[in-house]
Amino acid sequence: MKAAVLNAFGTPLAIETLPDPVLGTGEIIVDVAAAGVANYAGGVFSGARNYLLEPPVVPGPGGIGRVRATGPDATKLAVGDWVFCDPTIRARDDAINPDMILQGWTAVSAASLPLHRFYHHGSFAEQMLLPTENVTPIGQIDAADAGRWCALSSLLVPFGGLLAIDLRAGETLVVNGATGGFGSAGAAVALAMGAARVVATGRNGRALDDLVRRFGARVQPAQMTGVEADDRRRIIELAGGPIDCVLDLLPREANASQVLAAVLAVCPGGRVVLMGGVGRQGGTDLALPYPWLMRNDITIRGKWMYAREAVTRMVRLVRAGIIDLGKFDVTEFALDDANEAVAHAAANAGPLRLTVLRPDR
Ligand SMILES: NC(=O)c1ccc[n+]([C@@H]2O[C@H](COP(=O)([O-])OP(=O)(O)OC[C@H]3O[C@@H](n4cnc5c(N)ncnc54)[C@H](OP(=O)(O)O)[C@@H]3O)[C@@H](O)[C@H]2O)c1
Repeated sequence: MKAAVLNAFGTPLAIETLPDPVLGTGEIIVDVAAAGVANYAGGVFSGARNYLLEPPVVPGPGGIGRVRATGPDATKLAVGDWVFCDPTIRARDDAINPDMILQGWTAVSAASLPLHRFYHHGSFAEQMLLPTENVTPIGQIDAADAGRWCALSSLLVPFGGLLAIDLRAGETLVVNGATGGFGSAGAAVALAMGAARVVATGRNGRALDDLVRRFGARVQPAQMTGVEADDRRRIIELAGGPIDCVLDLLPREANASQVLAAVLAVCPGGRVVLMGGVGRQGGTDLALPYPWLMRNDITIRGKWMYAREAVTRMVRLVRAGIIDLGKFDVTEFALDDANEAVAHAAANAGPLRLTVLRPDR
């Protein structure tokens, strides 16, 4: 099969012919139709992000494809089914605290390296091998739409967080970092889950206005200044009532005071989910006032990725027309042009924008 291979950190992806994957029990082989390219992929491949990824490797965290072969234990999946390939692989030998990897992207810790070495290659290839449980049917689609369906990867991350804090219909939510790739998807998901109002924060006023244009008046654009007290006042004003939840998706370049501006705006009983990268570059850590947390029954939790069932639930939201994949702008590249795709993704990061590789073309 043809694949884009990262032979060493700091080298361009090489388009090579590799042996086809070999099927085992408990596994599925998928013909990859479309694979999303993250805006920070270049930072992963240069080594700057220090991801636990062992080259040589075919990178690429998941995507959309068609089942090529099923193991003998698959009960529902059939050859030809259109599927979402979930890169979140959990070790099968610990049901409560499984070691995890993002296939073709990063091992969460050194303990999960055996999993990374076995399910080594990702989706920047014509075929990939996955555990059966990581392959979810999406129903019949037109092959031309496979790139657009890669939006599932962006939507699932905030969906995982919003399920974790149990966002309810009619509630008000702050999405911190709403002009980013995952933050903008978070606004879309929150609206689909019935949020009455989404206060969308960001520094880029034009990107915020664009979110309002796409999603309507339930989105309130809160342009951030970096002055914590002013920013919090603005968030509270725009919420127009109690703020029930915060979904934080600020990147590692942001600082803890930008997180505080949103977190301290929640009402008594408020729930906050932290999903971003703040603190990963060092700097001041997030310091929350103990008495405020205690007196106000505040829940703060972290979330990495999403539970397995979230994938099927998200597919249902799309199929029901509650999430509109048409809101995403998609730019596609052939597998041969993988390095151009990586450069394009970096230069075009922003709300509801997807860069996609099409190994099927
Ligand atoms: N928990 C998980 O499972 C999970 C999964 C995937 C990704 N993530 C993390 O999610 C985070 C967001 O990823 P992304 O791809 O959406 O990032 P992104 O597209 O770069 O968006 C970042 C957002 O933060 C704002 N921002 C950028 N630099 C900033 C700075 N220096 N100070 C304050 N705000 C800044 C941006 O908008 P403005 O310029 O308008 O302010 C934008 O709203 C990353 O840290 C990523 O690692 C987490």
